[in-house]
Amino acid sequence: MRKQIVAGNWKMNNNYDEGLKLVSEVVNMAKDELGPDVYLVLAAPFIHQKAISQLLSTGENIYLGAQNCHEKENGAYTGEVSVAMLSSVGTEYVIIGHSERREYFQETNEQLAKKVDLVLSGKLTPIFCCGEPLEVREHGDPYKHVENQIEESLFHLSAEDIKKTVIAYEPIWAIGTGKTATSDQAQYMHAAIRNCLSKKYGQEVAGEISILYGGSCKPSNAKELFSCEDVDGGLIGGASLNARDFIDIAKSF
Ligand code: 13P
Repeated sequence: MRKQIVAGNWKMNNNYDEGLKLVSEVVNMAKDELGPDVYLVLAAPFIHQKAISQLLSTGENIYLGAQNCHEKENGAYTGEVSVAMLSSVGTEYVIIGHSERREYFQETNEQLAKKVDLVLSGKLTPIFCCGEPLEVREHGDPYKHVENQIEESLFHLSAEDIKKTVIAYEPIWAIGTGKTATSDQAQYMHAAIRNCLSKKYGQEVAGEISILYGGSCKPSNAKELFSCEDVDGGLIGGASLNARDFIDIAKSF
């Protein structure tokens, strides 16, 4: 059975102390309120990684994530952070190809393919983001757009490696806008993604890959979204900055 995952993407929020306070709150609430079937991922800024890794203990089902990594192993890339560096402080998940990185840092599908490779070879789990902008939703073919992102960045992977990858569908028009995809829109796209994976890797492999929804997901709409057959959890931005909201979303399965 595929994993149910709720991942919090803090983006560029929380100073050091605020971040650690949020983690303690999440850990305490999760202990009291969450069952063993939900995996939480906290994708914090780089400055928090080491300290959070020391706060989390094994067996809690709460994992540490980063929001990006560089596509080279090491070298003269001022300001960048490598997979090996992340691994050395206990990071276990890395978000790859968030639409904000694609837009503001011009990350390409080809570059993201290299990042996914490095993350997997470092034995970390990539959370690969895909999703269409508003113009494509309204005037183009959103399914083709997303399939193309997946084909160009993930289809070189072996079946073993694709099974280790988490996919997050984040329609760009729903990110930080308060405008959520309806559960029908989400289910339709998630099923299309699984179908596309199935054509390449077979139904059994596609059935094991967790596909998360992201974009204005909050406690009030998580239950409906998570009840969709092909929605295996969420990648949460704004609402992950509040422990109560984040845990309430994780209780929505
Ligand atoms: P919001 O939940 O703030 O819309 O952000 C979604 C997102 O981009 C998560 O990666």
